[in-house]
Amino acid sequence: MPNLFDPIQLGDVAAPNRILMAPLTRGRSTREHVPTAIMADYYAQRAAAGLIISEGTGISREGLGWPYAPGLWTDEQVEAWKPVTEAVHKAGGRIFTQLWHMGRIVHPDFLGGAAPLSASATTAPYKAHTYNGKQPYAQARAATLDDIARTLDDYSLATRNAIRAGFDGVQLHAANGYLIDQFLRDNSNLRDDDYGGSPENRGRLLREVVARLIGEAGAGRTAVRFSPNGDTQGVFDSDPASVFVPAAKWLSDQNIAFLELREQTPTGTFGSSDQPRVSPAIRQVFHGPLILNQDYDLKRAQEEIASGLADGIAFGRPFLANPDLVERLRRDAPFNAPNVATFYTQGTEGYTDYPSLVLAGS
Ligand SMILES: Cc1cc2nc3c(=O)[nH]c(=O)nc-3n(C[C@H](O)[C@H](O)[C@H](O)COP(=O)(O)O)c2cc1C
Repeated sequence: MPNLFDPIQLGDVAAPNRILMAPLTRGRSTREHVPTAIMADYYAQRAAAGLIISEGTGISREGLGWPYAPGLWTDEQVEAWKPVTEAVHKAGGRIFTQLWHMGRIVHPDFLGGAAPLSASATTAPYKAHTYNGKQPYAQARAATLDDIARTLDDYSLATRNAIRAGFDGVQLHAANGYLIDQFLRDNSNLRDDDYGGSPENRGRLLREVVARLIGEAGAGRTAVRFSPNGDTQGVFDSDPASVFVPAAKWLSDQNIAFLELREQTPTGTFGSSDQPRVSPAIRQVFHGPLILNQDYDLKRAQEEIASGLADGIAFGRPFLANPDLVERLRRDAPFNAPNVATFYTQGTEGYTDYPSLVLAGS
């Protein structure tokens, strides 16, 4: 029976263990969305992960509305990512980048005042992080077919750039209420064309984008992240299994490297939901590696791998606060607590200064 510390093949990547670093936005790039040197230190510190998934990385200016988040649409960004991927590889690690289009979550401040793109003309609840503090979201405009064609090209370019920058692969961010999720789920996709209505139609953009990623990177270097159950940033589906199970089956047929699910539970600490988890049904149709996330500790992680539900576990906040998380899990040692106040600040504090275990006498 496999356990967390056993190796696993994730598409083209041989991971030495089943402990993945979940994607974590940290806002340590420049205002022009160019990675900085401290990001190389941060990711290299965490190279013992079976696989690192980078923070959400913008595929285009239009798709990125997070202060100081990195992008992958210019040569300058590609050059600045190279030392990051090199540092991870030199430290013995592996790293995918997470390709991010935020859709309606992009505040017009990032777009010269223009409305953001989404499946339909909807408005996200809550407030956007902007360079001018928190501000209410604006109503999105429904993507035209030209917008969709341009967005597909942006995904292709960002994938090519990711490979040029030295990433081992790409993960499509199709979770958490961002663009792809806005198309997938029925409270944010109100379209009546080929991209809306039936679950099959709502999954069309996902399938077209994944085909672009596979075309550029190969299926063995392409992964996808979903968050099927519950509400995230106002995006919700009345029947998640009806859209996410067929989508997972299609992804299985494409032979992607792995599928990651962020799932909420009734007691979840990064969003909670009473809507049942979809992973058991997805497990039946997705035959590649299935990675689960949210609120895992050592015990629950081992149980889910032992039960056969998961092939690996992605840790978010624990990896943020524990550069040596793999070793701590191995020793069942306590974790450093994450400092929420420095999640999105700039500089090294709360970023590269979390202590590792002092391995006295070992
Ligand atoms: C500071 C922070 C930034 C995050 N950024 C991203 C992101 O860029 N992309 C993404 O898919 N999820 C993001 N998440 C969600 C995490 O990947 C993960 O799903 C969440 O932390 C729950 O897992 P955990 O209980 O192991 O922390 C973020 C979470 C936190 C706390």
